Amino acid sequence: MKAGVKSMEMEQLFKKSERKAYIVNGKHLLIHGSSMDSYYDTLLSNIKISAVVTDPPYGINLLSSKNTLGRSKTVYKPVHGDTNTELFKMFYEKRIVSMGINNYAIFGGNYFAPILPSAKGWIAWDKKVNAGMSFSRTELIYTSFHKKTDIIEYRYAGAAVEREEREYGYKRFHPTQKPIGLLRRVIQLLPDTEDYILDGFGGSASLMCAAEYEGTKSIIFEVDEEYINQGISLYLSLFPSHEIKEIVF
Ligand SMILES: C[S@@+](CC[C@H](N)C(=O)[O-])C[C@H]1O[C@@H](n2cnc3c(N)ncnc32)[C@H](O)[C@@H]1O
Repeated sequence: MKAGVKSMEMEQLFKKSERKAYIVNGKHLLIHGSSMDSYYDTLLSNIKISAVVTDPPYGINLLSSKNTLGRSKTVYKPVHGDTNTELFKMFYEKRIVSMGINNYAIFGGNYFAPILPSAKGWIAWDKKVNAGMSFSRTELIYTSFHKKTDIIEYRYAGAAVEREEREYGYKRFHPTQKPIGLLRRVIQLLPDTEDYILDGFGGSASLMCAAEYEGTKSIIFEVDEEYINQGISLYLSLFPSHEIKEIVF
């Protein structure tokens, strides 16, 4: 089964893996499960995936002891798998190298640099914020792109967060939630494709939302059911008329 897998066919494929998932608008597969689970090997090898765009746990115990970020008082849940970079290492080997995926963009690239081969096409996401803030002014994205090191300017702090939330009509709920507008810019850098983009660490399902805007199909994994449910709500707030079909086995 290759590109253009229909909703029904997707359901058939999924049946084999006996897990819970959602078929979103007949184009995206949102899986409540671990992207490392061997259960999904057959499923993933039967669907044509042309790119990975993902934001793995950075292995840095990101949140403070009070589960807050920087100077913000918002309390989040600790990020699952954030104690070391082993998870990413396994993901890179199993879901990128072994699957022969040649197009990828990996957020948090600086944390994974010791594991990754040297590359030309790093991208710095410039949040366009002033020095002295309590969070990073840039984030580094490791990519497969055979281009010069580049910058994506996408303002994202203070009022700009509110602008993105207003534009897309949501409230941020995940500690490392990436702006949908930024993810759209990253998807635009990938070669045009009829195939799927894989995000092994979906969080808020922001990549699925961005993929829908960009007319691209996606497969998203997330282990935390609360984020799956919040991700579905986020998607429906953007695309209220789209069908979401739950598959429980
Ligand atoms: C850095 S966050 C991603 C945030 C996401 N980019 C967003 O915009 O919301 C990493 C996510 O991976 C999830 N996760 C951790 N281990 C996982 C695994 N083995 N399979 C799938 N998801 C996993 C965590 O629960 C967390 O939500």
